[in-house]
Amino acid sequence: MTQRELEGQRALVTGATSGIGRAIALALARDGAEVLVHGRDAARGAETVTEITDGGGKASFVAADLGDAAEVQRLASAVGNVDVLVNNAGIALFGPTAEFDVSAFDEMFASNVRAPFLLVGAFAPGMAARGRGNIVSLSSMAGGVGLVGGAAYGATKASLEAMTRAWAAEYSESGVCVNAVAAGPVYTPSPSGPEFITALGETTPMHRASQPEEIAEVVAFLVSPRASYITGTTVAADGGRRAV
Ligand SMILES: NC(=O)c1ccc[n+]([C@@H]2O[C@H](COP(=O)([O-])OP(=O)(O)OC[C@H]3O[C@@H](n4cnc5c(N)ncnc54)[C@H](OP(=O)(O)O)[C@@H]3O)[C@@H](O)[C@H]2O)c1
Repeated sequence: MTQRELEGQRALVTGATSGIGRAIALALARDGAEVLVHGRDAARGAETVTEITDGGGKASFVAADLGDAAEVQRLASAVGNVDVLVNNAGIALFGPTAEFDVSAFDEMFASNVRAPFLLVGAFAPGMAARGRGNIVSLSSMAGGVGLVGGAAYGATKASLEAMTRAWAAEYSESGVCVNAVAAGPVYTPSPSGPEFITALGETTPMHRASQPEEIAEVVAFLVSPRASYITGTTVAADGGRRAV
């Protein structure tokens, strides 16, 4: 019943060469979308594309460093119109505030905040002109709860959630739904390592971290017609962590 409901739609998934983004790309392709697999690593991008095309789906790889504003604009021009934008690419750097490297702080804000801002600016007007579109951004429970060493990272995700609310106010009347998913700890190849993810998972009411597919399904729902009355919200997929 729910399969192929994105048939005929083009979806750009940033950071789809790894982890959650890769799982999102596979889920949207399964649901019928043509997926533009974005990242920097062409070899891992090709793996995601091959997995989609081997399964009968449509996909291609687009490279861009989202830390560079000019590259973001170049990506948007190269891609053309999309029906679905998933702002997934991001960097998660944790560390004591007093020792946090200022260039790491700037790099995280460039990739996690400025790039989604520029991409929404590039794609949302076209969606609004066509009267439909879906934008989902990947936030984190760190945007809503205080984590030791997570001040800078949490600030990037709280910013993304604030922008999500503002974008919903700006674009929803034109048929564009804008939401965020605040993931709890997810087993991905992120720099923090599996022990950190397992330990964070223990702090959730479910006492476990999640797999990327558990987050991807939430995104697949939000961009589907089944979520047609949802905009401006952040859905927590975090084993209950934000509730306690
Ligand atoms: N894992 C978690 O526990 C967790 C929890 C909550 C939220 N999140 C959020 O979920 C999203 C995905 O995380 P993940 O754990 O799946 O990460 P991941 O496995 O480390 O993958 C990150 C992806 O983002 C891309 N990327 C990062 N910075 C980029 C840049 N400057 N330019 C272009 N591409 C860039 C990477 O591309 P290349 O590798 O090709 O360079 C890769 O495809 C992030 O926004 C993260 O903050 C993760």
